[in-house]
Amino acid sequence: MQQFKALVVTEDDGKFAAQVVDRHVDDLPAGDTLIQVNYSSLNYKDALSYSGNKGVTRQYPHTPGIDAAGTVISSDDASLSAGDEVLVIGYDLGMNTSGGFGQLIRVPAQWVVKLPAGLSQKQSMILGTAGFTAALCVEKLLLNGLQSEQGKVLVTGASGGVGMIAVALLAKLGFTVSASTGKQEAHEALTKLGAGEIVDRNTIGEENSRPMLKEEWAAAVDVVGGDTLSNVIKSLRYGGSVAACGLVQSTSFSATVLPFILRGVNLLGVDSVQLPIEIKRNLWNKLGAEWKLDTLEDVCVDIGFTELEASLAQVLSGGANGRFVLDLNA
Ligand SMILES: NC(=O)c1ccc[n+]([C@@H]2O[C@H](COP(=O)([O-])OP(=O)(O)OC[C@H]3O[C@@H](n4cnc5c(N)ncnc54)[C@H](OP(=O)(O)O)[C@@H]3O)[C@@H](O)[C@H]2O)c1
Repeated sequence: MQQFKALVVTEDDGKFAAQVVDRHVDDLPAGDTLIQVNYSSLNYKDALSYSGNKGVTRQYPHTPGIDAAGTVISSDDASLSAGDEVLVIGYDLGMNTSGGFGQLIRVPAQWVVKLPAGLSQKQSMILGTAGFTAALCVEKLLLNGLQSEQGKVLVTGASGGVGMIAVALLAKLGFTVSASTGKQEAHEALTKLGAGEIVDRNTIGEENSRPMLKEEWAAAVDVVGGDTLSNVIKSLRYGGSVAACGLVQSTSFSATVLPFILRGVNLLGVDSVQLPIEIKRNLWNKLGAEWKLDTLEDVCVDIGFTELEASLAQVLSGGANGRFVLDLNA
């Protein structure tokens, strides 16, 4: 395959426009592994790259897509052979390296994960960076001692990609999950995924000057940041932890040391992008085995190139409801 289809975002005088165009394999960056991409998925970061956010993508023209699943066409690395089913998430893919919204990518073998035995390429992309990050958050909470009898676990931004998978995974592992959402229409789906309780996101998203609040949650997965994260820290139960991975409300938040020194709570940072590849590979294998979700297809919204831009706009506005999976062959 020499020619391939890709979404390309261009910049002209500070204005950004996107188009699906034909590209040539020689347009791809250097790398030792060429992959035919069959599926990608849409994440908040992709919407930022698509809209011209220079914090994510410095240089245009550019093809976004931080996730890709497909088959190896060729590799200089002895661990990979033509025909291997693989996935790539994070590192620089889709940021400043041409990403998964194109039918071909060329990347270093050190970014590549062999597809876990229990997942299809499409299922791996229903999870994608969002689902992987949800799993990473849950793993961090477990490593910090979380047990189901300690009480309710809160998930913020629950109708989003990270949120939905976090709800489903925590429920599968036997936790009582409180799902915070701003979307009435998501209540039913979240309950089906295993949420025991729905929390209106406005009740935890507004600034509150009190240094501590009533103890509510044994732990939390927070994708929102800002005042939401402040309030979550203030309402963790004694010894509780919050895994913080997102910034949709704000990158900054205010806090005092009181919840940390009076309740011994923990603020756990989560990064799925630069995580060492061996840790990524192990967690992906877990997601294909003992952590495999049988509700994955329920949250999947199938799209092709035709629906890609409208779907990205929906993600950017916080209006997504489910995991958009891009079929590059549709
Ligand atoms: N650290 C990492 O490695 C890592 C990896 C992946 C993602 N992330 C970050 O995690 C966050 C979520 O990613 P995602 O892919 O799940 O995004 P997403 O699918 O767009 O979901 C975000 C959800 O947050 C809620 N929300 C949106 N705007 C809000 C606001 N102003 N205030 C409060 N809630 C708001 C909405 O859910 P409700 O309507 O249900 O409230 C929305 O669906 C992003 O900030 C992303 O950059 C970080």
